[in-house]
Amino acid sequence: MTKSKSAVVTGANKGIGREIARRLATMGFKVWLGARHAERGIAAAQALRAEGLDVQWLELDVTQDESVAAAARVVSAESPCLDVLVNNAGVAINYDPPPSQQRVADIQATYDVNVFGPIRVTQAFLPLLIAAPGARIVMVSSSTGSIGRALDSGTPNHSVNLMGYGSSKTALNAITVAFARELAPQGIKVNAAAPGYTATDLNGYKGHRTVQQAAEIVIRLATLDADGPNAGYFNDDGPLPW
Ligand SMILES: NC(=O)c1ccc[n+]([C@@H]2O[C@H](COP(=O)([O-])OP(=O)(O)OC[C@H]3O[C@@H](n4cnc5c(N)ncnc54)[C@H](OP(=O)(O)O)[C@@H]3O)[C@@H](O)[C@H]2O)c1
Repeated sequence: MTKSKSAVVTGANKGIGREIARRLATMGFKVWLGARHAERGIAAAQALRAEGLDVQWLELDVTQDESVAAAARVVSAESPCLDVLVNNAGVAINYDPPPSQQRVADIQATYDVNVFGPIRVTQAFLPLLIAAPGARIVMVSSSTGSIGRALDSGTPNHSVNLMGYGSSKTALNAITVAFARELAPQGIKVNAAAPGYTATDLNGYKGHRTVQQAAEIVIRLATLDADGPNAGYFNDDGPLPW
């Protein structure tokens, strides 16, 4: 019997993350559904298991060193390696005000999840990822992180100016490239995905895309074959300008 591949998805109790978990499990992955709250994580994992999928709740608060370390220990106790890590957990805290009125405390709290979270989680799971034959790491970014798009009046991003949230994703893009450069010799590919404006709790369901559409680019990057790209930033239509 061939052992199934494994995946960790952070912030997977709802929204785009839960759909990513569902898609990976449907493809045959054993999925560790990361969630910081037991009740929400257990309920989401149970719902997916009821669909016949191999999904297990993994307690994981991306802002807490000890929580992340404990999560890596749980996975390593059950599996010698990890094939896919999706850094999906994200927040957009009071993202609306113009830059001149954004509170530094809100931006710091945003960065704690969106920037330091993926660094913390990637570092903690690295030994397991390196042990896999060709691991894939996907950073769930956003087109609001694209400086090129922000400056291009021909794109929808030109009319939004989300300093805290957008710059957290710009930083995440730089982090994507940094890990990709270090890990390429070990056969690991690290890419950033922009899921598009999607109806979820993050934006009060104002987004026009479905979670199914949003998950598509993430799944593509999580399952790249050996000649797939590394250190890239993509939406459904292809590469995005940094
Ligand atoms: N929706 C969009 O239009 C859009 C567009 C571009 C990019 N994105 C990105 O897509 C990703 C998923 O967002 P979404 O739209 O699906 O939002 P969502 O429905 O609000 O889901 C966010 C997930 O992140 C989790 N999370 C928040 N803080 C966490 C922490 N400290 N530790 C662990 N998990 C934490 C949430 O858990 P709780 O339930 O416990 O809060 C939830 O599971 C985010 O990175 C977001 O920036 C979204």
